[in-house]
Amino acid sequence: MNILGIETSCDETAAAVVRDGFKVDSNVVASSLKEHAAFGGIIPEIASRRQIESIHSVVSQALDQAKVTLKHIDAIAVTAKPGLIGSLLVGVSFARALAYAAKKPLIEVDHIQAHWYACFLRSKNDNRPLPNLPAVGLVVSGGHTSLFDIKNVDRVKLIGKTRDDAAGEAFDKVARLLNLGYPGGPVIDRLAKEGTNDQIRFPRAELQGSYDFSFSGLKTAVLYYTRKHKNFSVKQVAYSFQESVVDVLTDRAILACQRKRVNTLFVGGGVAANSALRERLIQTAEEMDIKVYFPPMSFCLDNAAMIAGLGYRLTKRR
Ligand code: KG4
Ligand code: ZN
Repeated sequence: MNILGIETSCDETAAAVVRDGFKVDSNVVASSLKEHAAFGGIIPEIASRRQIESIHSVVSQALDQAKVTLKHIDAIAVTAKPGLIGSLLVGVSFARALAYAAKKPLIEVDHIQAHWYACFLRSKNDNRPLPNLPAVGLVVSGGHTSLFDIKNVDRVKLIGKTRDDAAGEAFDKVARLLNLGYPGGPVIDRLAKEGTNDQIRFPRAELQGSYDFSFSGLKTAVLYYTRKHKNFSVKQVAYSFQESVVDVLTDRAILACQRKRVNTLFVGGGVAANSALRERLIQTAEEMDIKVYFPPMSFCLDNAAMIAGLGYRLTKRR
């Protein structure tokens, strides 16, 4: 079964063709990220205008690269929520019109759920076995930090979330106050590799009795530190900040696996690309006999393959 996926929830305009819920035959992403960099964050008006300009060619390219036409597509899956409303409207309107004209079923997909589902995606030469459910899902992106108890693709319970900033948002805000530009995650990830000493210890928010997260105190601690120490080392601050985020994310995710008695952990979203988080989770999970799955790098950030993949699984459950 071929599903055409469409994703336009933020600054990416993406389309993909996915076979049987996991085999990615094409994955096209156009991004307006560079245009937002000068503003230090996403400008919704710019994002939706670029979506309108590129949606048609992105969808055409996805079909071409998969060597199919609409005739071979069994259903169209589109991100319905959450996201910037102007951006979402572009994808949803386009998908609805296409589904109506081509007489295909339309499947509405939740973007956050699709982020953990990305662990199931396989590109052309990737023949690794597919993971099993039940699992715990940790979604760490620019807009969300959520923990899910996943019994099945349509039986998912939110068990923890951030009470303030999302993990990716914390990376972006700290990068901004260190004058590192936007987005902050990749540059902090890179700099932290050169600043590996534990001289600075930033706080870890302990929210007793819950799986929730909080990153705004950490961000403020970084701000105060940089004000107080005029000649601080950017690499040290990047490292210590990242360590704090990695500690908290790892603790909560592993705790959830233990309490829910599951030995499968999915990690998804832009922050899942973070090398320190990947390393720590792999190591800790191994010690606890938990199998941790990350999407391949190209499926960590926003993409439409994850939307098509989850869309397939949802139609199968209907
Ligand atoms: O999932 P995503 O592409 O978009 C949302 O749905 O939000 O995530 C974008 C976020 C940004 O905040 C970015 O700074 C962060 O992911 N990010 C990273 C890394 N690469 C991207 N954070 C930490 N380390 C990285 N290597
Ligand atoms: Zn996302």
